[in-house]
Amino acid sequence: MNSSTRLEGKIALVTGASRGLGRHIAAALAAAGADVAVNYANNVQDAEETVRLITTAGGSAIAFRADITNEAEVADLNGRVEQHFGRSIDILVNNATGPQPMLSIEESSWQTYMDQLEFFVKAPLLLAKAVLPSMKLKGEGSIIHIGSEVVQIGNANFSSYVTAKSAMVGMTRSWASELGPHGIRVNLIAPGWIPVERHEGVSTEGYSAGVPLGRVGEPADIANAVVFLASSESAFITGQCLSVNGGNTFGI
Ligand SMILES: NC(=O)c1ccc[n+]([C@@H]2O[C@H](COP(=O)([O-])OP(=O)(O)OC[C@H]3O[C@@H](n4cnc5c(N)ncnc54)[C@H](OP(=O)(O)O)[C@@H]3O)[C@@H](O)[C@H]2O)c1
Repeated sequence: MNSSTRLEGKIALVTGASRGLGRHIAAALAAAGADVAVNYANNVQDAEETVRLITTAGGSAIAFRADITNEAEVADLNGRVEQHFGRSIDILVNNATGPQPMLSIEESSWQTYMDQLEFFVKAPLLLAKAVLPSMKLKGEGSIIHIGSEVVQIGNANFSSYVTAKSAMVGMTRSWASELGPHGIRVNLIAPGWIPVERHEGVSTEGYSAGVPLGRVGEPADIANAVVFLASSESAFITGQCLSVNGGNTFGI
């Protein structure tokens, strides 16, 4: 299959695609032929830059502002994407994240846990409820959660994030069981450390030394895995957690 046409005719929504991994995921989906909705919350210029990168490369994309933790904004986002492309969403990538504070248990509160659950449980649920009616009508769809290797590592002083990312794993499996009969696949990608803009200036040496493949990840490592899980090449894969971390951990 030609790599630039394998997602032709598909509409993809990538949450948090104004920078970081989301930008690269959006670009890779567009390079594979999808029409891409680039979601962002605050930084319109960055989102427009993602769109510019994609369209300059010959792809199709448009930016949509929406706070994906807000029910009304998610419903509106789904409607606007459908209206713009004249088709409903086929591929949903739950990627967006808010701040990820490192806090001890004593420093944490129920609210700090809720803040993470808002992004990694509530937002995917709201988005799924928005896209599922059309996916069920079409009898197909691919939902991809961006998790994290922290679920296996259990990093200290990071329990709110680790807990919320762990919840995504259970959600992936339960949704896969429920949605499989409708032709809708649900998978999770668990990245290792993939330095993006927010990690600028942070040394990767110590982390890389412990990774069997001897390096940190690149955004393209994650983006390529997303394209695979979005495409028919993974048609018989659902409910799975794919670690993309150079062998830093083994399976979830
Ligand atoms: N990078 C890594 O090393 C790594 C490792 C493991 C897992 N991950 C996971 O990969 C995903 C992406 O991480 P990243 O490092 O690329 O993050 P990032 O660079 O901080 O980007 C976060 C994105 O989320 C958007 N966003 C924030 N609040 C939002 C909201 N309420 N509604 C919609 N969008 C919102 C931001 O948009 P605005 O710019 O408009 O605010 C931005 O586009 C996350 O789920 C993260 O947990 C990352």
